[in-house]
Amino acid sequence: MTNDKHPVTMIGLGPMGQAMTHALLKAGHPVTVWNRTASRGDGVVAAGAARAESPEQALRAGDLVLLSLTDYQAMWDILGEHADALAGRTLVNLSSEGPAKTREAAAWAAAHGAAFIVGGVMVPESMIGTEAASAYYSGPSDVFERIEPTLSVIGTPRYLGEEISLAQLMYQAQLHVFLTGLSSLMQATALLSSAGMPATDALPHIIGILRATPELGGVEAIGEDIDAGIHPGETATATMMGATAEHIVQASEEAGLDLALPRAVLAHYRRVVDDGKGQDSWTRIIDGIRNPRFAAEAEDAAA
Ligand SMILES: NC(=O)c1ccc[n+]([C@@H]2O[C@H](COP(=O)([O-])OP(=O)(O)OC[C@H]3O[C@@H](n4cnc5c(N)ncnc54)[C@H](OP(=O)(O)O)[C@@H]3O)[C@@H](O)[C@H]2O)c1
Repeated sequence: MTNDKHPVTMIGLGPMGQAMTHALLKAGHPVTVWNRTASRGDGVVAAGAARAESPEQALRAGDLVLLSLTDYQAMWDILGEHADALAGRTLVNLSSEGPAKTREAAAWAAAHGAAFIVGGVMVPESMIGTEAASAYYSGPSDVFERIEPTLSVIGTPRYLGEEISLAQLMYQAQLHVFLTGLSSLMQATALLSSAGMPATDALPHIIGILRATPELGGVEAIGEDIDAGIHPGETATATMMGATAEHIVQASEEAGLDLALPRAVLAHYRRVVDDGKGQDSWTRIIDGIRNPRFAAEAEDAAA
């Protein structure tokens, strides 16, 4: 496969699939598209993409097939009946999915003679094709290397290894931090609004703590300690953080807010204190996260 203007098939034309198609067309790649709701392809067809009349026609248009769908079931819904056309092709699935189904999909593709690469796009559709865009990939390294120049049109490719689920897990790991952060932003905003502060005033203050967070010791140093199983409690002990977590639960309760998120956070710290490690760093909460034996009890205790 030479990647210079290599033909690409794009299946799935939600916001992300459309943005990737536009980027590929702009880079000079011939792109064939198929989407369940055909009208969602009108924009990319006007920009130069060829519209396939069926999923099979889309598959047969080229040997590199990108999928941008809600989940992997959508891939099976679309391609299940056309699996005979998979042989010799490379599927790059850029849709979100859990690790078990991801492995199942790789085995399904292999059984039909297709190579399978998993992708996790880390930017919103508006950033696709820009310098700031990146995507994680996992799967067979020889296959990835062959298609890397084409994938680089979407954003900087970051290859994580042969373990097929790695790109999914990296996507989910980062989105977990992001989604938890968004929920905590809203919880914090609600807390301040219970005392009359509007969100426009509250949010700039709240965001400030995120910028200060690396000062807890520096992300790299924290990572080294966690890998070494060391949790030095010189600056921010689990007991101190847990007491704060308790105050957040109390304040949220007094304000009549939902307690699920603050209680979950408090449960992490209670577990450390119950284990007699309260004077360790707050990073010690990772033990309870990794070994949730007593998580239910801790949650009950936090309630
Ligand atoms: N949008 C973002 O900012 C962003 C950022 C990073 C990663 N992602 C990931 O990229 C993927 C696509 O995102 P998106 O925003 O483009 O999603 P979307 O708007 O939900 O698009 C989903 C696509 O999947 C198709 N689809 C869903 N179920 C189907 C089924 N059973 N049969 C056939 N087609 C089906 C839809 O077809 P119809 O048009 O016919 O409904 C559409 O083409 C997702 O996995 C998402 O997690 C998105």
